[in-house]
Amino acid sequence: MKQILKGHIVHAPVLGALEITENGYLVLQDGIIEGIYPQLPPQHRDGEMHDYGDKLIMQSFADMHLHAPQYPMLGMGMDLPLLDWLNTYTFAVESRFADTDFARDVYRRLARELISNGTTRVCMFSSLHTDATWVLMEELEKAGVTGFVGKVNMDRNGKEGVLQETTEESVRETLRWLEGCHFDHIHPILTPRFTPSCSDELMAELGKIKAQYGLYVQSHLSENKAEIAWVRELHPDCERYWETYHKYGLWADHTVMAHCVHSDEAERRAMREHNVLVAHCGDSNINVSSGICPVRKMLDEGLWVALGSDIAGGAQLPMYRVITTTIRASKVRQIMDDWHTPFLTVPEGYYLGTTAGHRYFGAGDGFAAGDTLHAIVVDDSDFPTPVRPLSINERFERAIYLMEQRSIAAVWSAGRCVVGC
Ligand code: GUN
Ligand code: FE
Repeated sequence: MKQILKGHIVHAPVLGALEITENGYLVLQDGIIEGIYPQLPPQHRDGEMHDYGDKLIMQSFADMHLHAPQYPMLGMGMDLPLLDWLNTYTFAVESRFADTDFARDVYRRLARELISNGTTRVCMFSSLHTDATWVLMEELEKAGVTGFVGKVNMDRNGKEGVLQETTEESVRETLRWLEGCHFDHIHPILTPRFTPSCSDELMAELGKIKAQYGLYVQSHLSENKAEIAWVRELHPDCERYWETYHKYGLWADHTVMAHCVHSDEAERRAMREHNVLVAHCGDSNINVSSGICPVRKMLDEGLWVALGSDIAGGAQLPMYRVITTTIRASKVRQIMDDWHTPFLTVPEGYYLGTTAGHRYFGAGDGFAAGDTLHAIVVDDSDFPTPVRPLSINERFERAIYLMEQRSIAAVWSAGRCVVGC
């Protein structure tokens, strides 16, 4: 089926540059982008027209790190540092997901909120519960969210009898979970919570499962100084945190490492050499007092950086908010660095929240021909009235800063219209 989206098309094929087609036409064939045109070519006039008028057609967002079972505790414990926050609030909340009815209710709401805020791709942590993880995958799939979800592995330093598995259970449940993952748009990813949560035996077993099933891996890295000191005690043979994953074959192409705030040059080099994705979570890093990540330096070094909301360390699920927080944090970094480090611009923030993440799922750059469409349609007509007509570039910048859920008039995910159709 041929479909045509008409409107002001704004996408970011490269870091720092936008491509804008004012009153343009985005042609889809069976959900796959055929091309973007300033005028509709005659051979495409037979397509089904979605005329979005004066609205902006932008890339949808990719949230590369978030914890689904922490949705009920959004905005809680925000005065605690990471390890206290985990022990005081987080593990207790996650333990509730042993109840699949409770999980269904929470995950249905979460999936709806994600998609209606324009997040169409995720790389997400569930809890350690196999059945609730399937529920999460089902609810995401139903809502039109696509991507990766992981059943969490944690066999030490959780809450005994509340939120912790034995090593044997963790392995057995991971295999049971993998056997039951049959979804079109949501796929499994191995998810050791972080090194302090996983015994050496468990890490070794997960390394084997990764190799056997050909899975990607997601975890946390160098988020917080107390955490790093703890990892050093647990693995005295490892000079750096990343080696505790590498030792067991979990540090590989497309491994997602959240945070990396305190990764030194050698650890960053290991990321670049193995094509590890840094999921930068600027809102979370400030909330739980982890630090201000040197994102500009990472980008200059050629690292693959994308963004995560990291709810509920992060308190904002919408990625347009995460993008503006990322930009603000980069300005704080510039001030702290004696003005030597350039901040992230709005087009750069947009690229990190869209293209950089979408590439994880095999997409090309921006709205690339041959990709399935992941897009949002933004209605900025109720923003404060400007004193002069704005360029599309200016309207785009405002959209990033002022967008609300109600501004998103339509969402397209994996080539299908899933909101506002
Ligand atoms: N490290 C281990 N678990 C977590 C978590 O749930 N959130 C964050 N931000 N860091 C973690
Ligand atoms: Fe996290």
